[in-house]
Amino acid sequence: MKKWFAVIGDPIAHSKSPNMHNAWFNEMEIDASYIPIHVTNEDLEKAVSSLKVLGASGWNVTIPHKQTIIPFLDELDELAEKMGAVNTVVRLQDGKLKGYNTDGLGFVHSLEEVVGKEHKEQPVLIIGAGGAARGIAFALKQFGYSDLTIANRTISRGQEIINELGKGQAISLHDAEQQLNHYGIIIQSTSAGLANSEFSVPLSLEKLREGAIVADIVYNPLMTPFLLEAQKKNAKIVNGLGMFVHQGAIAFNYWLGQYPNTNLMIKRLTEELQK
Ligand code: ATR
Repeated sequence: MKKWFAVIGDPIAHSKSPNMHNAWFNEMEIDASYIPIHVTNEDLEKAVSSLKVLGASGWNVTIPHKQTIIPFLDELDELAEKMGAVNTVVRLQDGKLKGYNTDGLGFVHSLEEVVGKEHKEQPVLIIGAGGAARGIAFALKQFGYSDLTIANRTISRGQEIINELGKGQAISLHDAEQQLNHYGIIIQSTSAGLANSEFSVPLSLEKLREGAIVADIVYNPLMTPFLLEAQKKNAKIVNGLGMFVHQGAIAFNYWLGQYPNTNLMIKRLTEELQK
């Protein structure tokens, strides 16, 4: 029987996930489809039971449901449990719903695809302490990045993540700016630079170390003001598109046991975003 998948969120119309997953189904000759479904907060519980009753094989979860969906699931993957957030639901053989989080893992896959796996000893600075930062911090730790610092406008939010990680430190944006040359990998995880956002860059890169790796999770635009500043300083750039594609690919693999072609997808979406 044809399988079907979905992404639920509010708003949802802008999501690039349906195109990406449907393109992979076509390419890999998998008889399945993937649809966006607009689900408001008040309808979340009903939406989850409906997806179950209607036989969805799995779905992605986006803003604002990544945390609130948890009580409606039967099981959580270890990383999703630590993160307290779910972006992927898998319907298991026995019909139970299991929640995963592929956002942070997607970031690490993307980072290592661009710069390799040999930077795990480098001091890492994560800018921001929202849901994205949390996922990235846990995934980096799982992949063996041992020296993590979180810089955030509200230091206590960074400290909360560090406490849960059990290692690292939380600092202010000002301190991060002053000590920037200490870090080999810098990850911008706030919404700074997002198209239409007034918040342009979280901190100055004036003291950026020669040869540093600078990553951003925003992918629209592909080159954020932060990445443009880093590029001027000859940093190695990792844009946010790889994270988006890999979080989808990891979810796809949880659902279907096959890893889709991420390189081709990144190339295609890059061309689309550059138009
Ligand atoms: P998400 O879950 O999508 O990561 P979030 O929880 O709203 O989103 O977090 C947004 C991040 O951007 C936070 O680190 C936030 O800093 P605070 O924790 O101090 O709120 C950061 N952020 C948003 N607007 C900002 C601004 N104008 N200047 C500095 N940091 C900002």
